Amino acid sequence: MIKFNHLKGVLILKPTVIVANRIEKPALKKLESHFNVTYFTGLEDLKDPDFLKDLKIAKGLIGLFIEIDAEFLDLAPNLTIISTISVGYNHLDIEELTKRGIMATHTPDILNDTVADTMIALMLAAARKIPELDRYVKNNEWTGLIPTELYGEDVHHKTLGIIGMGRIGHVIAQRANKGFDMPILYNSRTRKAEAEERFNAKHLELDDLLKQSDYIILIAPLTKETEGMIGKREFDLMKETAIFINGSRGATIVESELIEALKNTKIKAAGLDVYNHEPVEVDNPLLKMDNVVTLPHIGSSTLATELAMSMHATEDLIKGLTGEEPESLINKETYK
Ligand code: DGY
Repeated sequence: MIKFNHLKGVLILKPTVIVANRIEKPALKKLESHFNVTYFTGLEDLKDPDFLKDLKIAKGLIGLFIEIDAEFLDLAPNLTIISTISVGYNHLDIEELTKRGIMATHTPDILNDTVADTMIALMLAAARKIPELDRYVKNNEWTGLIPTELYGEDVHHKTLGIIGMGRIGHVIAQRANKGFDMPILYNSRTRKAEAEERFNAKHLELDDLLKQSDYIILIAPLTKETEGMIGKREFDLMKETAIFINGSRGATIVESELIEALKNTKIKAAGLDVYNHEPVEVDNPLLKMDNVVTLPHIGSSTLATELAMSMHATEDLIKGLTGEEPESLINKETYK
């Protein structure tokens, strides 16, 4: 763990804010002009004495965190706001935060287009075997006609099933339907009139979507309800030619059952941005499979989008600590 605190001692009267693991530089600069900021990178061990010392007095936390639960919050008695630089907030115990009157903010909307681009990229890469073909060319194996096993699958005009038609799902549907002429099926807790009207998207029960889709993109947030929602039973329902993309969280699927489904050719291929354990373990069988395209959880990671997310989270943290209502407050009842 590395700790930076250039201003310690100088701005000691300002509220203390801890930055954890990730933030873009201009956002850090902005924070430093308002607060006494301590920046911890590589933060995994909650037992670090420097971190615990600052946590005791911290009014705000911003960045990308490990699990924030009651045990963690007991160590942070002065905390007023937590600002996660992500749209997903499954790592925050919102109920516990709310009980303690601590505000929690996230970064919705800013990343919709970027994450949708990533999902389309994964779908195309898995369908057209892009990483495999890239290796083939770079390894000087391209010496004549390519073997037909390296031919890919069409994406255009194939049916796309989207699980989780929220803000990002909507933008994926737009790209797939308007750009690739793909019929759209979706499964979501609520019907989405705009997607139905604009993309002729059809709302289906999950099992029907799994049976009918050529491509399936899982983009639902991780909640108690969605945890492990795609496992053996669901992979068995998919077409043997189906290509499955996960851009939500690793825990929304049963990863070992995805591995079995791929091994037993129950489905054709997968594209993954998220895993059960991140960074993914070196001996994870998924890393050895040619029909799996892997990304290191970079759904939103373009320079522009990461910067915009950092700035949004920073502005919300400043608002929360200066009496204004943060724009992307999750637990509204904590704002008094
Ligand atoms: C988020 O912001 O929650 C996404 O996982 C980024 O990829």
